[in-house]
Amino acid sequence: MCGIVGIVRSRVGVLSDLLKSLKSLEYRGYDSAGIAISLGDDIFILKGVGTIDQVIRGAEIPDGSIGIGHTRWATHGGVSLENAHPQVSCDGKIAVVHNGTLDGFEQLREDLRARGHSFRSETDTEVIAHLVEEGMREGLSPLLSLHRAVRMLEGSYAIAMISAGHNSIYLARRKSPLVIGLGKGENYCASDVSALLHLTKEFIFLEDGELAEITPGDVRIWRGDGELVAIERRAEVVDWSPQQMEKGRYEHFMLKEINEQPYIMMKIADTIEYYKKFSERLESALKSGSLSIVAAGTSMHAGLIGKFYLSTLAGFGSDVIIASEFPEWSRHIANGDVILAISQSGETADVLEAVRIARDRGAKVFSIVNVPGSTLTRLSDEYVFIQAGPEVGVAATKTFTAQVASLYVISSLISDPTSSEDLREKLLSISNSILKDMGRVDEESRKIAGLLKSREHVFFLGRGVNYPTALEGALKLKEISYIHAEGYAAGEYKHGPLALIEEGVPVIALIPKERSLINKIIYNLMEVKARGSFTVTIQPPDVSLPSDRRLVVDVEDELTSPLIYAIPLQLIAYYTALELGRNPDKPRNLAKSVTVE
Ligand code: F6R
Repeated sequence: MCGIVGIVRSRVGVLSDLLKSLKSLEYRGYDSAGIAISLGDDIFILKGVGTIDQVIRGAEIPDGSIGIGHTRWATHGGVSLENAHPQVSCDGKIAVVHNGTLDGFEQLREDLRARGHSFRSETDTEVIAHLVEEGMREGLSPLLSLHRAVRMLEGSYAIAMISAGHNSIYLARRKSPLVIGLGKGENYCASDVSALLHLTKEFIFLEDGELAEITPGDVRIWRGDGELVAIERRAEVVDWSPQQMEKGRYEHFMLKEINEQPYIMMKIADTIEYYKKFSERLESALKSGSLSIVAAGTSMHAGLIGKFYLSTLAGFGSDVIIASEFPEWSRHIANGDVILAISQSGETADVLEAVRIARDRGAKVFSIVNVPGSTLTRLSDEYVFIQAGPEVGVAATKTFTAQVASLYVISSLISDPTSSEDLREKLLSISNSILKDMGRVDEESRKIAGLLKSREHVFFLGRGVNYPTALEGALKLKEISYIHAEGYAAGEYKHGPLALIEEGVPVIALIPKERSLINKIIYNLMEVKARGSFTVTIQPPDVSLPSDRRLVVDVEDELTSPLIYAIPLQLIAYYTALELGRNPDKPRNLAKSVTVE
């Protein structure tokens, strides 16, 4: 889950761009950071524990024409100066940054030790620098040494490497993302496109098993499974703007991204036709096999709502399988079945592994993704983008509603391919009503956050399509405020969790629009209220409820209500985190893109 970056230029002056890219990668991990700058025959290394700003504070850093950088989310080896990247060879002439995890690296390290290498860190990455060093001592070029080294590695890696005296950055990729950015008289590499948007819009996406060498004027790529075989790959243009990576007038990315949601819905409304081909192909694939939706975290909650839409609107039953559980829960999946993978990043290791297993069994893979060029798009038979633009806050917000809106459009188009105009109008009307109420909803959510900040537990209840929304409300709150929160199907609550209710425990209920469901949730509210809970309802107007606090939103209809309810839930989580002095953009222990299983 670490982030890596590299810049090679024909002139001295990579430092400020390197640091800028690295900062924009911090959402992938921020427990330590480091850079390496090539200075002719030497490599300057600066690294340490903390964010990149903390690491560089007060340091004198020489500039150069080649540099690589790393921001870490610790896997092998604790958080320490020694374990921060770059990792270097014995002589300090080779510096490596790595994202991924190497299996069985201990044996390689023992073998290297036996051959006289001494290690400074506990990381798996350090063996790469030493293996390359051995190759170069034997007279191999840096590229051939890296090739020989990666053929000895098991596991996942995106590697960027520099070697003193060589004007290139060397790259290798297997099961961890790595993109090359193209510039004029300079080239770049990074874990994802967002880190390079301030430099270029043109990208080449490396595939598993490939190596590359980038110089100021050239990019060369090879397949490296056996002997190196040179390949050509065309660049792709990614139409995201660098401003999307800035906080602008907002204090946090999370708040900015929450506020972008109505505009993303407008964008989806204006591009309904874009979803048609995907919907048609999905419908036709579903005629010959069963459907399993696969995702993790917030995307899994969107997947549950997707299951509801596909069943209610399109008449297709499906299974939702948590990506990390897929290997154990998917033995029935066979040739002709369909997997619908949902992932914001398109890089979540659990999702990718599930997709690989499904492909091996002959299933067709459809995916719903946000990040262009991500690995999931490459593993899929068909994919659509949710068009949410880059999401920087670690907690998924705008991509959740964009996933839900995309699933709504896809299911509606399967149900009625001529419904484009109605769908457009509906989404536009939802986005207008969100915009109209945003100021008030923000204010009221902030007040509710003030009431939650001192509580130990918070429960979220929903019914029908908003049962997954309740799960998502709880996930948002716990991940950024660290208050224990759980979401439940409102009717299920009495089958056990009700025992947790005592005086003052907050219960936040999402009130359905549909009359037939309202009475049921009123009973559920009365059950918790009778036991002393403090009840908050997020609800349509004109419904009288036994709640201590109401937050009214303008709900169009039951099916699309998750798009509207998600927003106060996100804001409640955001303001509760602020009340408690947490940084909502960087919750502890979490990283945006979870590229380890
Ligand atoms: C929560 C959150 C995570 C992600 C999960 C899957 O706010 O962001 O739960 O949803 O790690 O990530 P993607 O969608 O990139 O596969």
